[in-house]
Amino acid sequence: MRKKVVIANWKMNQDFYETTSFLRNLLKIIFEINHKKEIIIAPSFPFLHISNQILQGSTLSIAAQNIHQMENGSYTGEVSASMLKSIGVQKVILGHSERRKHFSETNDILIKKIKTALKYKFIIIFCVGETEVERRKKEHFLSVKYQLEETIFHFSLENISSFIIAYEPIWAIGTGKTATPEVVQVMHQYIRSLFMDKYGKNISRKISILYGGSINDLNAKSLFYQKDIDGGLVGNSSLNIEKFMRIIQS
Ligand code: PGA
Repeated sequence: MRKKVVIANWKMNQDFYETTSFLRNLLKIIFEINHKKEIIIAPSFPFLHISNQILQGSTLSIAAQNIHQMENGSYTGEVSASMLKSIGVQKVILGHSERRKHFSETNDILIKKIKTALKYKFIIIFCVGETEVERRKKEHFLSVKYQLEETIFHFSLENISSFIIAYEPIWAIGTGKTATPEVVQVMHQYIRSLFMDKYGKNISRKISILYGGSINDLNAKSLFYQKDIDGGLVGNSSLNIEKFMRIIQS
């Protein structure tokens, strides 16, 4: 059985009070419902430590939204893998299209980030996804294949169990335009076939592939019902505790 995973990607939202009260309330509610998913919250850097303390002893865990590729040094404003490890962070989101777009993260930089993350034994939530133009030109499969070939596929079989894949079509992120469950299923099946060709049947069966892009409490169920969709990376709708709970229960 593949792991079912729901991740809250809070991006640059939620201050100290909002972060801590959300997590305390979430713990109370989660305690009362019977769920079997892995739930991961990705708050901003300044609140990772307190978030980890709040979630200590629960089934929930935290992820960082980024790490720097270098291990340390003169990189003003950056945060290293070892710093995060030292406060107990064990997961990181890499390759998000907002990082690629606004912070010029190329595939080459991502390879370096992956190397560093693997060295520090992080679980890596790695995002791929096509643009609207690529989909219109029917180049979406090619685009996703290229992103995988130029990043994760540089790494050996032993490293692959450290990855969770998130398919996030860029046109669906933050736009309210969710991809249909059928469209996502076809892409997830394709991504799984790429892992099969590269690493074999076992890996392709085991690797969790999440969908991300305008997931909400109304569309989550039909998405998660698809056989190759193993959960979701949720942005906007994860900022509201009631909506997020309904997504978890989906
Ligand atoms: P969204 O963001 O749910 O707000 O579309 C998803 C993401 O960027 O991970």
